Amino acid sequence: MKTIRLCILFSGTGSNMLNLIRTLHLREFIDERDCVCRIEIVATLCNNPQAKGIQALQEFHIPCLVLSHKGLEREVYDALLVREIRRYEPALCVLSGFMRILTPIFTQHIRAINIHPSFLPHHKGAHAIRDSFESPQDFGGVSVHWVSDELDSGAIIAQEKLPKVAGESLEDFEARIHELEYKLFPQAILRALALHTRS
Ligand code: GRF
Repeated sequence: MKTIRLCILFSGTGSNMLNLIRTLHLREFIDERDCVCRIEIVATLCNNPQAKGIQALQEFHIPCLVLSHKGLEREVYDALLVREIRRYEPALCVLSGFMRILTPIFTQHIRAINIHPSFLPHHKGAHAIRDSFESPQDFGGVSVHWVSDELDSGAIIAQEKLPKVAGESLEDFEARIHELEYKLFPQAILRALALHTRS
């Protein structure tokens, strides 16, 4: 059976990463030729030695490579990332809360997708949830897109709007955004890989 190898990059809590492990890792899917194949998350990489997600990964027996970016120029760090990712020969690299602005050294050499907690192109950047909560629009959203040279701007793979609820707190809005992420991200990864679930 063919195995589709994925790497996941993260920086913090890793709740999306853990959800991807639960929903995709070592599970079987059907590819475009109607063949059964298996997804394997072969490695995770983290730029933040304090990230909560590192601890949470321990029960899964998936390698976690912690590569701090401290003191390194962006290009030097990205070259290091590219070298380490290539060792695992992934078909796709998944940025799952990886809070780094990536240079072309990464974006032009690694096939990657990213999740962003807004309905792009609205509210790009690191404060997307707060920015969409405070905006006059009556919706937030989640987008999954291909990684390109420009931050939060690659082609959309899947996205969904989340209607705001009158009187809702930022914390409640954020919790609903994360719930939507947990639903949309695995679906978008399957779409990016041209896979579907077994019926
Ligand atoms: C998610 O909201 C994701 O969209 C954004 O960073 C957050 C990561 O959360 N890029 P977690 O680490 O997956 O819990």
